[in-house]
Amino acid sequence: MALTDSGFDSRVERSQQYFNKVSLFFYDLILYGVISKFAWGCSIRLLDGQYRKYATANHLEVGVGTGFLLNRVVFPSPAPRVVLMDLSPECLEKTRQKVARYAPLTYRQNLLEPVAEQIAPFDSIAINYVMHCVPGSFKQKGIAFTHLLPLLSDNGVLFGSTVLSQGVQKNILAKPFMGWMNHLGVFNNREDNARDLEAYLRANFSVIEFRVVGVTAVFAVKR
Ligand SMILES: C[S@@+](CC[C@H](N)C(=O)[O-])C[C@H]1O[C@@H](n2cnc3c(N)ncnc32)[C@H](O)[C@@H]1O
Repeated sequence: MALTDSGFDSRVERSQQYFNKVSLFFYDLILYGVISKFAWGCSIRLLDGQYRKYATANHLEVGVGTGFLLNRVVFPSPAPRVVLMDLSPECLEKTRQKVARYAPLTYRQNLLEPVAEQIAPFDSIAINYVMHCVPGSFKQKGIAFTHLLPLLSDNGVLFGSTVLSQGVQKNILAKPFMGWMNHLGVFNNREDNARDLEAYLRANFSVIEFRVVGVTAVFAVKR
């Protein structure tokens, strides 16, 4: 199926409807209190560590959610350029308020479409826990990474994480929760595996880190 087919549009829309004020109220508690560590096998400490390694004072946060991780980042400058990009106006607004101290600009953008705005490039781009929501296999939805390429500076790093479904050992919490998320349409990761993700990244970027932790792929790439 091509990305322009309505099947993709409706699956993006369906996933987006779950990012609303009520779900975002409980999001941090459920994801970061329980699910990330105990189902996905990926601790807050690990994710914080990725920001410590790669986040710069010229940073784009993609797929912002509630801004939980971004809000914990200690930037190497007191006044970093922080920009937010997401399809959900609720997520953008919640995160904008949370990190208002950085006066972030916000862009509403579907990652399956090219970025039409002229935006100066960033030295770091984070995309954590986003791609498992995006429909299609990595051979198809990998285009989301390519759409971010013009926003990455020559020495910039794009880093992130995503929950895999195929080829990983799901524990007794991961299996039903991931199944339920896919059934609702919040997640679209039934076809996601590390091989396809790594192959897409290697074909389009220089991969500086790629590992699977629990059921989560953790990656960092450069141009
Ligand atoms: C599960 S949340 C992750 C939030 C945050 N990065 C975190 O680590 O907690 C997924 C985020 O990706 C956004 N998102 C999902 N599909 C998208 C798409 N096709 N284009 C742009 N943003 C999308 C959602 O609106 C949401 O903010």
